[in-house]
Amino acid sequence: MGNRTERDQTPEPRESRRRFMIAGEHVILRAFERDDAERCYRWMNDPNVVRTLKSRYPIAFQNELEWLDRAMLPSATERHFAIERKDDRSHIGNASIHDIDWVSHTGWFGLFIGEPTAWNRGFGGDAIGTLVRFAFDDMNLRKLRINVFDYNERAKHVLLAHGFVQEGRLVRDFYREGTYHDLVILSIFRDRAQEPVNP
Ligand SMILES: CC(C)(COP(=O)(O)OP(=O)(O)OC[C@H]1O[C@@H](n2cnc3c(N)ncnc32)[C@H](O)[C@@H]1OP(=O)(O)O)[C@@H](O)C(=O)NCCC(=O)NCCS
Repeated sequence: MGNRTERDQTPEPRESRRRFMIAGEHVILRAFERDDAERCYRWMNDPNVVRTLKSRYPIAFQNELEWLDRAMLPSATERHFAIERKDDRSHIGNASIHDIDWVSHTGWFGLFIGEPTAWNRGFGGDAIGTLVRFAFDDMNLRKLRINVFDYNERAKHVLLAHGFVQEGRLVRDFYREGTYHDLVILSIFRDRAQEPVNP
């Protein structure tokens, strides 16, 4: 029997680098890293993405770095995730749960697939399902909601398909491209019995 050396007791380097991730069927949610900045910057300046968000102005790379630095810090009221494809492990979008209320066990969330080549291939829907499952089963939240522009038909379709119900509408709430747009509030309850019947 040989003596155990320090090296024997050291975990395999590969093992120690293995990252904690939240796995869905086609995507995983992981923590942000600094080298995600270039992609986030590109997406936050893509008009196709920006028109689905409340963001209004072009974003400087420095601002994106500062946002990312904040998003990487643990916070009691918000959590941010990078969305990766499971097959090739490419970073295709971002997701957040924010304004978490630990008394009411509720939160808001936002999510986008920034890579246009990844749209309409099931990744967004899987990311939504994965995030909701994690929020309910691991964070012990009981209700999540999201604001979506009424004109964002694709997002409404995906959210309704994943069990969200329309809970409210903020009428002519957001000015963009010369007119006021409605915002639709969609929510999902861990206990489906608590869902509004005729919102
Ligand atoms: C909304 C978003 C998350 C959806 O992700 P995705 O990967 O493209 O969506 P999926 O492939 O999972 O599902 C797309 C569904 O929308 C449907 N769809 C596509 N365009 C549509 C439209 N204009 N109107 C209605 N439904 C539409 C597709 O047919 C598909 O439905 P099906 O699965 O029943 O066939 C993604 O497109 C995105 O990030 N867009 C920009 C940002 C955004 O809108 N964010 C809102 C937050 S939800």
